[in-house]
Formats: sequence, C-alpha cells, structure tokens
Amino acid sequence: MAEDLILDTTSKASTYESLLKQFISLCNGENNMVANLANIAAGLKEAFGFFWVGFYLVENEKQLVLGPFQGPVACTRIHYGKGVCGTAWSEDKIQLVPDVEEFPGHIACSALSKSEIVIPIKNKNQILGVLDVDSDKLNDFSEMDAKYLKELCDWIGEHIIS
Ligand code: SME
Repeated sequence: MAEDLILDTTSKASTYESLLKQFISLCNGENNMVANLANIAAGLKEAFGFFWVGFYLVENEKQLVLGPFQGPVACTRIHYGKGVCGTAWSEDKIQLVPDVEEFPGHIACSALSKSEIVIPIKNKNQILGVLDVDSDKLNDFSEMDAKYLKELCDWIGEHIIS
C-alpha cells in the first residue's frame, strides 16, 4: 500500500474527515503504539502545517512523558497539573489557548509557539495521555479543531494506546 496521504482539502472540516479515515486505514492491522502515534503526528503536521504536533503519555500516574511528535525538540516531562498539558490532564478537559502568554503556568518549549490546543486521550474514563498541537500564529485553533481532534483522540484512546 502506498503511504501517501490523500486529503480532501476543500475545507478544514473535509481535510479532518479525510485524514481521520486515512489514520484508521493506516493503523489498521498495526499494533505498535509508537509507530501508529508517530504516523498520526506526521499526518496532522503534513495536513495542516502545524508548528508542533505530538503526544505526551502518562507515566506512573504522576507525569507526562514526551511521546512521538513532529516539530522542534520539546520538554521531556510535564508534571500533573502543570502547563497546558498537565492542566488538560488534571482537569480532564480540552485546553484551547488562543494566546499562550495569557495562560498561567504555560510551559514554553519554544518561544515561537503562540497558540495551542491540548486534548486528553482516554480509555474508559482513564486518561492515558494528551495530544498537544502548537501554532506559531495567535488564535489559530477553533471549536472545529477541538471537535475533530477530540474525535481523533477518542479513537486513539480506544484503539491505539494500551
Ligand atoms: N506548552 C506545553 C508544553 C509542551 S510544548 O508546547 C511541546 C504546556 O504548557 O504544557
């Protein structure tokens, strides 16, 4: 199978919809979590040109540890309740941050990151990690991103991370 992404780019919604379908077929039959998360991070970056896309995974119920990602090097560990990622974990809630400088305790892995969205990844109500997407533009994420990225993360929690 060719691994090129084929996206319907007529709108952002159709890009997300075609991307989600391709993630499902790309990961179908592959049970290596790192390989699948790496391809999902790469696909999101390729489709939307985000500045940074990656996963942080819960370790020992007290820290998030950097997982597969695309973009500049990033901080390796984030404590429960710290930064945007740790807050998404402790509050069990999507964090949509139009301006990272306005978020108390934001962890600046790169000074170029201006806005950010973080989505918890769960299985049966247990948080397994988060998806973190950063943009180098202010106010670059909307409720539409939240809706589709949550759909993606719900699928990841059920099928990819174990
Ligand atoms: N800004 C995040 C840290 C991770 S980097 O953005 C990749 C935070 O505040 O949790």
